[in-house]
Amino acid sequence: MTLKRIGILTGGGDCPGLNAVIRSVAKPAMSHFHSRVIGIIDGFEGLVEGRSRELSPLDVAGIINVGGTILGTSNKGDPFHFPMGERKNLRIIDASDQVLSTYRNLKLDVLIAIGGDGTQTIAHKLSGMGMNLVGVPKTIDNDLEATDITFGHDSAVAVATEAIDRLQTTASAHHRVMVVETMGRYAGWIALGAGVAGGADIILIPEIPFSWDKVFDSVLKRSKGAKFSIVCVAEGARPADGQVSVKEMDKKRTDPVRLGGIGELVAKRIEDETGLETRVTVLGHVQRGGSPTAFDRLLATRFGSVALQAASNGEFGVMASLQRNEVVTVPLESAIGSQRLVPPDSQLVFAARAVGTCMGD
Ligand code: F6P
Repeated sequence: MTLKRIGILTGGGDCPGLNAVIRSVAKPAMSHFHSRVIGIIDGFEGLVEGRSRELSPLDVAGIINVGGTILGTSNKGDPFHFPMGERKNLRIIDASDQVLSTYRNLKLDVLIAIGGDGTQTIAHKLSGMGMNLVGVPKTIDNDLEATDITFGHDSAVAVATEAIDRLQTTASAHHRVMVVETMGRYAGWIALGAGVAGGADIILIPEIPFSWDKVFDSVLKRSKGAKFSIVCVAEGARPADGQVSVKEMDKKRTDPVRLGGIGELVAKRIEDETGLETRVTVLGHVQRGGSPTAFDRLLATRFGSVALQAASNGEFGVMASLQRNEVVTVPLESAIGSQRLVPPDSQLVFAARAVGTCMGD
């Protein structure tokens, strides 16, 4: 299929590797297919509002190692649930027709949508309206069911691991308990990956609700031996007898729930119940910023390449996906609806327990 005009957007929260995908789509699109590549500004918000700019070869040169996204992104632009106005005057409207007009006005042959579950869900719905969509999965959370891994995740795990390494030396020096809260939404992949890689003593993930007593016992035991503890807690973790910690609800967001606060709670309860001096570090957006790891650059480049090939073969309504080390395409509908969570009986959980890590249960 001739691809005269290729649209590309990045949707939802950013993560390292987005620019690597943009580059791996745009470079061959311009040089091999002689296509024009139209960057949509600020994700679906820009598509609703008709904001875009044509990319030149210079725009996509030297960006493989650059974090963020040269196109901008937004997690408030779901066209089917589009926020208009502020606060009391906030109205949620269906702006999908505006998206269709932008798509037609820009004369796009395909739109490549790089994003997480929210973005892929929107892409699937737009496919149903007759637009040619190809998805590319991203998220630091690694919670997309239809791919073995998303790019961005490895970079986030690397940042969180380094943070744990740094916390360990100061924890050891002061004989303290250090609690570190990672991102990840309802999936514990970042906390588990960084926790194991950083040798955390306690790892709390959403998939394994924890017992307060087990956590207190574990830090008290360590206070008599190593004299310090590292507790790595996922933002979505919760006690078996409690709820997930919510920082904020924001109707404008594609996902209105913003998690956060469990790190503070865990640190406070440990200090109150055990008397051990405890500090908390919330890693937050540090996990999303900065340069992608080599792994993420390679995966992002392969994803972009396969997405472009799919579009050039007229294969739409699909998403690039890593399946047993091969990047293939899968139907968009298989990428949405269910989350990829840590199986509590997975090899990594088993390995963590085997080296003495308390999983809170
Ligand atoms: O989905 C990526 C993510 O970083 C989550 O891990 C986190 O819960 C959320 O986005 C934070 O969103 P925001 O950038 O809107 O604060």
